[in-house]
Amino acid sequence: MSHIFVTRRIPEAGLRVLRESGARITVCQDDEERGVERADLLAGVAECDVLVSLLSEPIDREVLAVNRSLLGVAQMAVGYNNIDIDAATELGIPVTNTPGVLTETTADFTWAMLMAVARRVPEAHNYAVAGRFKLWGPNLFLGADVGRGADGRRKVLGIIGYGRIGKAVARRATGFDMEILAYSPSHRERIEADELASWAELDELLARSDFLTLHPPLTPETHHLIDASALGRMKSTAYLINAARGPIVDERALVEALRAGAIAGAALDVFEDEPAMAPGLAELPNVVLCPHIASASHGTRSMMATIAARNAVAHLTRERAPNVINRPVYDSEAYRQRIAL
Ligand code: DGY
Repeated sequence: MSHIFVTRRIPEAGLRVLRESGARITVCQDDEERGVERADLLAGVAECDVLVSLLSEPIDREVLAVNRSLLGVAQMAVGYNNIDIDAATELGIPVTNTPGVLTETTADFTWAMLMAVARRVPEAHNYAVAGRFKLWGPNLFLGADVGRGADGRRKVLGIIGYGRIGKAVARRATGFDMEILAYSPSHRERIEADELASWAELDELLARSDFLTLHPPLTPETHHLIDASALGRMKSTAYLINAARGPIVDERALVEALRAGAIAGAALDVFEDEPAMAPGLAELPNVVLCPHIASASHGTRSMMATIAARNAVAHLTRERAPNVINRPVYDSEAYRQRIAL
């Protein structure tokens, strides 16, 4: 009987699709607050036909090489920086993700974080629930305008990474009458032809943004793109929002910049060494910190699980999976040998 190994419990909609395939399904870790032990991961992958992974597990060469007949990896996320794609391709293993479905939900949440940090929503909430709201005050929790506000000035939204999510964030910014600048080297032509955003070099974007939001994939080029030097080139009144991947920001440098008042605040849904946070970050007043939940709406997470499961079933039946990341793998000798086993 075929076997699909799921590292941690995914939403029921996805499990249903997996069960309908007739394969035996193993969910390795059922406790929401615990990760998968490395030994369990290796043992599970060694004896399954298809692996359903989450971004919380490193799927490196050792994991991929442990099973000569592994037919594919179906990641339940759009990001896949936890998977060694080069190793997978070399070994003839197709890897899939769940693009598209989480775009709008992630853009909504980016906006929620932007508004929350600009208008100090968590601080004000904590104050109110602690019973400290005794009297309306003209100086209580003053924040920053996102729309034109009293000074009438259009605020500048800088977007790094102008793929699906970056553009969905831009669409929301038009409702706030913002000037939108975008920097995303792989989308330069698209930005230059865009009706919402204008292309800006990184220096200009850093210098002019009132709100800087990050949406590129994590690659060697984007690792620590926002470091001490970049933070030092931002306005002291600017806010940084990151709902992409933690290591795009040098988190220790960010703590220093926030302490020194080099920027006004930051809203982070992701962390450099997730789930740990840089020392001092959680104690700062001018941050909004969330546990990587930008795509966490009921509908979107169910759909992500369904898509991941459909990809897994395609791997199992040796069909070309719709969301394959390393498409050339299908034409490789390594893949042909693998599916022939
Ligand atoms: C992703 O899909 O890559 C997000 O980070 C989690 O939904």
